[in-house]
Amino acid sequence: MKSDERITNFEKSRQFSADIHALIPGGAHTYSKGDDQFPANAPAAISHGKGAHVWDLDGNEFIDCSMGLTSVCIGHGYEPVAQAVCEAAFKGTNFQRPAAMELEAARLFLDTVQSGDMVKFAKNGSTVTTAAVKLARAFTGRNRVAIAREHNFFSYDDWFIVTTPCDRGIPSKVREMTAAFSYNDYESVENLLKDDDHDIACLIMEPVKFDPPRNDFLHKVAALCKDRGVLLILDEMISGFKWGLQGAHNYYGVKPDMSTWGKGIANGFSACALTGRAEIMELGGIRRQGDDKLFLISTTHGAETTGLAAMMATIREFNKHDMITSNWARGEFLKSRLEDVVTRNGLAHELQLIGYPCLFALVCKNAEGVPDDRFRTLMMQEMIANHVLFQGLFYPTWSHQQPELDVMVQAFEEACGVYRAAVDAGTTDNFLVGPPAKPVFRKKI
Ligand SMILES: Cc1ncc(COP(=O)(O)O)c(C=O)c1O
Repeated sequence: MKSDERITNFEKSRQFSADIHALIPGGAHTYSKGDDQFPANAPAAISHGKGAHVWDLDGNEFIDCSMGLTSVCIGHGYEPVAQAVCEAAFKGTNFQRPAAMELEAARLFLDTVQSGDMVKFAKNGSTVTTAAVKLARAFTGRNRVAIAREHNFFSYDDWFIVTTPCDRGIPSKVREMTAAFSYNDYESVENLLKDDDHDIACLIMEPVKFDPPRNDFLHKVAALCKDRGVLLILDEMISGFKWGLQGAHNYYGVKPDMSTWGKGIANGFSACALTGRAEIMELGGIRRQGDDKLFLISTTHGAETTGLAAMMATIREFNKHDMITSNWARGEFLKSRLEDVVTRNGLAHELQLIGYPCLFALVCKNAEGVPDDRFRTLMMQEMIANHVLFQGLFYPTWSHQQPELDVMVQAFEEACGVYRAAVDAGTTDNFLVGPPAKPVFRKKI
């Protein structure tokens, strides 16, 4: 990899961007992958990847920092997982009755995550978070759901999207069904549940994001939920297989009623899971003769054998190589090297690395110390020009070995030099090559 040469050729990328929006609304199937989320010099599409390396349409090579929205938890094209998927594909992917491997996958997953007695598999995280909310409503007989307002995504379904500025297309009445509390603000949770007619079926939050839980927040919330008969759903979509194979709730020793898993549990293949206590999960079963039937998750592709095979192979590889320990060690090394670069460039006021070694983010501020999309875009632009595909997150995996970490630090060093010059100039005007990236959730396009 010639990481000392600045990338300037994006010809095929530009053509791709020009063509795709006519065929695919948004030009991508995840809004956070869209053109408006990146600087003008970003690769428009990735042709292939290997380990932590990806290549774009023009043959430019990059180190990947966020690994497919953090779904690729070991590495692109990682052979033991790809092999398991191929074997499953050759044996058939979908049958008229459950695939034999569903039982094995359920056992392995529940033994691994140590959270809940039963599991339901699906293809998307949104499917399992929405299913958790439905079960909570059925179990408690209440209607409303409460979300942590600092956690920016739980589902593309209406119950969550209605709380964002992008509420177009959602009946206004849906808004009343979702309340919000603040993570680490116990009082805000107490306030929601203080009146007997709160009608709240469940709380949903990520166990942790970049801020650690403070003042025993998670345990106090779990106890309060138990006391008020409200179900606690911890969304491990991002934290699962990063804080540990048992997720972040085990890391902090808190027991939710249900947990939701996806993203990085199958090295980028589509496998998600809802786990929970048997008495709640069983509401979605067919063993309670005479009871009302609850239509839980029922999808054609939910248990496709390739996804389950990828998930099982991923778990085996994590255990075999103790990848959680090594990811944390790589993250610690990388974070401290990046922090040195920030300090050396006198940018501690403008650039902050927040989060844990297993997953951390860079907050980009302007000279006034205010988070600023133009400065954020400048950082992405300069990292990309220096061969690092960066969108604000650092997710160290097994594939980020020393040479990859070195390229990332070197690119950050170069990027910080330009950032410093823009901060000194008080503007990104002569530095940015195109418009700034925009927030995903915004009222206007
Ligand atoms: C915390 C969290 N929950 C749920 C989801 C939804 O997952 P999916 O995109 O697979 O539907 C996401 C996706 O970004 C997420 O970050």
